Amino acid sequence: MSAIEVTGGISLQGEIEIQGSKNAVLPILAACMLGEGLCVIENCPRITDVTDTLEIMRHLGCRIRREERTVCIDASGVRAFEIGGAEAARIRSSVLFLGALLGRMKRAVLPHPGGCAIGARPIDQHIAALRQLGARFYLEEKITADARDMQGGRVCLAVPSVGATENAILAAVTVPGETVISHAAREPEIDELCEFLRRRGASVARTDEGDIHIRGGKRLGPVRYRMKPDRIVAGTYLLAAAATRGKIHISNFPYRELDALIAVLRDMGVSVECGKDGIQLTANRPLRAIPYLETAPYPGFPTDLQSPLMAVFCRARGESRICETIFENRFRTVKELERMGAKIRTDGNCAVVKGIPALAPAKLTAPDLRGGAALVIAALQANGHSVISNTGYIERGYEDICRDLRALGAEVRQNGKEIQ
Ligand code: EPZ
Repeated sequence: MSAIEVTGGISLQGEIEIQGSKNAVLPILAACMLGEGLCVIENCPRITDVTDTLEIMRHLGCRIRREERTVCIDASGVRAFEIGGAEAARIRSSVLFLGALLGRMKRAVLPHPGGCAIGARPIDQHIAALRQLGARFYLEEKITADARDMQGGRVCLAVPSVGATENAILAAVTVPGETVISHAAREPEIDELCEFLRRRGASVARTDEGDIHIRGGKRLGPVRYRMKPDRIVAGTYLLAAAATRGKIHISNFPYRELDALIAVLRDMGVSVECGKDGIQLTANRPLRAIPYLETAPYPGFPTDLQSPLMAVFCRARGESRICETIFENRFRTVKELERMGAKIRTDGNCAVVKGIPALAPAKLTAPDLRGGAALVIAALQANGHSVISNTGYIERGYEDICRDLRALGAEVRQNGKEIQ
């Protein structure tokens, strides 16, 4: 079992380049199943979620070549439409193959994707959206879907679900007719999926009202596409620099995607300058607490940065309150932070963090992907040697968090990490 060792108390300084986006590449990989053209994805992050997704695609008949951060996918040989339980259990985002398989094979069979560390993760909105396009579902011990009668139409989501929006897009681009997805999620990853599909020949775009408008049935051709950087990884490193009173620069980053985080950092007294070449952060004074903040769908404060921000609140001056409105079980980092002396009380979906002068080093266990990153941020602040286990969670979304933090001067190392 690998572990990350951190010697804290060092201010992060320097320049960092951000890996390709996990939450954008996963739906884009599913979109490579559509049509028969060769898809070449550049700047594809070397993370285990990608490794697991490519394994599923191989089982479905794709021929895949992966060299460093370039993945070549030939889906011309796809004949299967069933995803096995073991594969789907390894990665929840296998549910994104529901829309892709219906689009490509007109049929799909996959296990009910279970919940995960952060919540029940239902898929009722995915099913409702695809039903509105005419897909038929048989929900026995497996999800069986038939899309032979699927056609363009109006899809209205009750919840602006990122995954349900992506599944509706993946199915609708393949069926003739006009589709409008209203109440669609606004996360940048949706727009990157649309850009990728347009590059293949699809007619898909977001309207001024935020709906997704599709003219389906166009032939999808080959594409070479370079992934944009990961906004949650960038936000994680900005928070780590703020927590350690550091000074870092993130080059050529679409900073508007982090507006909500940048506003919070500035309210905490951190200097954040944004320009065409990226983001410059300088934190040279004690951080102010934030009296109230809640996570929200984009462009609100991202739920994926809630735990990393909580680790920063632990040493801010005053009492901060953060409410988690997206997932029901995303405070599992609290008890680990308390082992470092953090003063946190939870009340339903809100946590109140009373800032203290110092966190103590400790032996910690990552509770989930972003909670693990939060513990790294906490350990960077503690004067002494901390060890974080269960790092497999972190490797799902961060190529090499230790490599990146060492580039900024941190004393961190990981034993037992497999290169993806
Ligand atoms: C995506 O998950 C991301 N994952 C998550 O990132 C991210 O936290 C989330 O969007 C919100 O931004 C990927 O893109 C692979 P949702 P997704 O469907 O699509 C409820 C990370 O750390 N809901 O927008 O699963 C759901 O319970 C991960 O990188 C339904 O009720 O998120 C939740 O409360 C974690 N029914 C809310 O909507 C449904 O059918 C948002 O979920 C679907 C969702």
